[in-house]
Amino acid sequence: VISQFQPKVLAGQQVVVTAGPTFEALDPIRGITNHSSGKMGFAIARAAHDAGAEVTLVAGPVHLPTPRGVRRVDVQSARDMLDATLQATQSASVFVATAAVADWRPASHSAQKIKKDGSGKPPVLHFVENDDILLTVAQGARAKAGQLFCVGFAAESENLEAHAKAKRERKGIPLLVGNIGPLTFGQDDNSLLLVDAQGVRELPRAPKLKLARDLVAEIAARLPSAGS
Ligand code: CTP
Ligand code: CA
Repeated sequence: VISQFQPKVLAGQQVVVTAGPTFEALDPIRGITNHSSGKMGFAIARAAHDAGAEVTLVAGPVHLPTPRGVRRVDVQSARDMLDATLQATQSASVFVATAAVADWRPASHSAQKIKKDGSGKPPVLHFVENDDILLTVAQGARAKAGQLFCVGFAAESENLEAHAKAKRERKGIPLLVGNIGPLTFGQDDNSLLLVDAQGVRELPRAPKLKLARDLVAEIAARLPSAGS
């Protein structure tokens, strides 16, 4: 559907979206990352812009073109993503966390390439947990004051509804969107499960842009200004 015909349900809103994986460097040429194409987050950024919002897309390393009219901030690590997100959400009214953030980063980063030492013994790697970006934003003053509506995503391999409900409560967010992975990763289609305080609703299998537009409408309907 052509963008200029989309209803402007997010006119006047500032939306921040995180998308893609993060990359946690181990040395200059290696690191750990997650599977994530970024397609869902990019589709949401596009749909939010088409709905009249001013959109900032905080993107991990992905190979996707920037949606027209969207401000894009490229990041690598979870820490960079947190910094960029905290800055962008200072004046935002909606935050949608679709990024597949690495839960851990290597405890130390080597400035030089780690070499095999000839002993045949692999190095022992130590990790530390990354800050939870969504939790940090959702616990911030603006979210607590009802000025910033936070939406989380959860990809689960089983028990989607139970995990999604528990995750929504743990993060203290009004809306959590679940999907069953890893089959959906990188695909153009998906189906989503919306979990809010009222219960659960399914958005059936559809192209990601259609789901993104439906999700944008669901978010708009939940904003404090809706209907006023
Ligand atoms: N998230 C985040 N920062 C992190 C980890 C997760 O912002 N460090 C966000 C994701 O973008 C997503 C939501 O939190 O919107 C849920 O991520 P998920 O990985 O499913 O949940 P976790 O809390 O990390 O729990 P686990 O991976 O153990 O299931
Ligand atoms: Ca995680």
